[in-house]
Amino acid sequence: MTDTGDTNTLTVRDNRTGKEYEIPITDGTIKAGDLSQIRTDDETPGLATYDPGFVNTASCKSSVTFIDGEKGILEYRGYPIEQLAEKSNFLEVAYLLIHGELPSKPQYDTWVHEITHHTFLHENVKTFMQGFRYDAHPMGMLMASVGALSTFYPESGNISDPDNRHMQMVRMIAKMPTLGAWAFRHAQGKPYVYPDNELSYTANFLSMLFKMSEHRFDADERLVKALDVLFILHADHEQNCSTNAVRSVGSSQVDPYSAVAAGVGALYGPLHGGANEAVLRMLRRIGSKENIPDFIKGVKDGNEKLMGFGHRVYKNYDPRAKIIKKACDDVFEVTGVNPLLEIARELEKIALEDEYFIKRKLYPNVDFYSGLIYEAFQFPPEMFTVLFAIGRTPGWLAQWLELVQDKEQKIARPKQIYTGERTLDFVPAAERWS
Ligand code: CMC
Repeated sequence: MTDTGDTNTLTVRDNRTGKEYEIPITDGTIKAGDLSQIRTDDETPGLATYDPGFVNTASCKSSVTFIDGEKGILEYRGYPIEQLAEKSNFLEVAYLLIHGELPSKPQYDTWVHEITHHTFLHENVKTFMQGFRYDAHPMGMLMASVGALSTFYPESGNISDPDNRHMQMVRMIAKMPTLGAWAFRHAQGKPYVYPDNELSYTANFLSMLFKMSEHRFDADERLVKALDVLFILHADHEQNCSTNAVRSVGSSQVDPYSAVAAGVGALYGPLHGGANEAVLRMLRRIGSKENIPDFIKGVKDGNEKLMGFGHRVYKNYDPRAKIIKKACDDVFEVTGVNPLLEIARELEKIALEDEYFIKRKLYPNVDFYSGLIYEAFQFPPEMFTVLFAIGRTPGWLAQWLELVQDKEQKIARPKQIYTGERTLDFVPAAERWS
């Protein structure tokens, strides 16, 4: 483990007062609270930081996921994503994220058994979901139904009990695919399919999505593996928008279903979970390889963005994009090649050789190829984010668990810089309108 416990200090001179302060630096950060001692007099508030979007503020200490954006490294609990995608499976990765270490054989068997036997939903959840309009967005249905689970398991509010926490985490990982699949079937007007506990986690999900009258839905193993890998790639990504939402809501000590519902809501937004759909639209608009140079020119002239390129954290090839690019071949071997793949590959090649993209360190991100795969599975674009949410659930829960066990955490309550009016005299409506 890297020793990040270096302690040094920062000397700050307040030019308003001429006073100097020595502030400890730990793990490359200063405590924002230490700045509050810097004040001009006893009447005015202490110095604070202004950081919309938390671009340079650590909100927690975490040992779940490590990212080095410059080098293109992603690790869960210290294990490189490439090795997990190749050699592990989604439920084992879920165990790793939540428990912090890989399971022994009995631990793994118990974990898989527990998750497999909690995939069913209370029948009233079905009735609840059937109440949505025929054209309800599946993410809206997922957000509402996962939140509604808190009413089916009122004991979930007892978050200080480790056994109870474990039970709710098992339930949530187990039930998310059932909720997601039922939201999908709802939009299609098809009957909801009950879980098949003889199948693996991912094969069962595909069965609940696509089974019709056959006795058992046997998905092609290559597709099961590809989707399982996609779940692994999405399982955690440290303090992103939805994880921050889960932590922020969870910091009120609400039950985990409500906290995860907040995460689903955050992921629903186009800036977070929706870019892969935009990639497909872009590729369709480009239409053929001959049109790529014109398109690139438009991007460089600032008319539009090359969707699926660039990342706030990765200034190198997103390691997840590399794995997905390889998975495309396996999936298309089964489903036939998506003609947009050829355009995507050529577009990537041209962009990676172009000075504009090189200078700005713009590389393909996780969304550049994932939409192509999802489309090959015949998922409509509205389902892409639901798949992301199912994959991200163990990560949200691992982060939630870390939060509720972290003695340094407090209820999330940022400061503001107030810019409004003060001490106005209220004039009653009757006088204002006369
Ligand atoms: N195409 C063309 N130019 C770009 C792109 C792009 N996709 N992304 C960034 N740039 C340019 C940007 O115009 C700016 O140029 P200049 O310095 O001349 O003003 C420079 O690169 C730096 O960009 P930025 O906007 O400061 O970078 P950011 O960190 O704020 O934005 C981003 C990151 C992901 C929002 C952005 O790269 C983007 O919009 N990409 C396209 C959308 C996309 O693929 N989103 C999925 C992200 S991965 C999903 C996940 O991990 O959850």
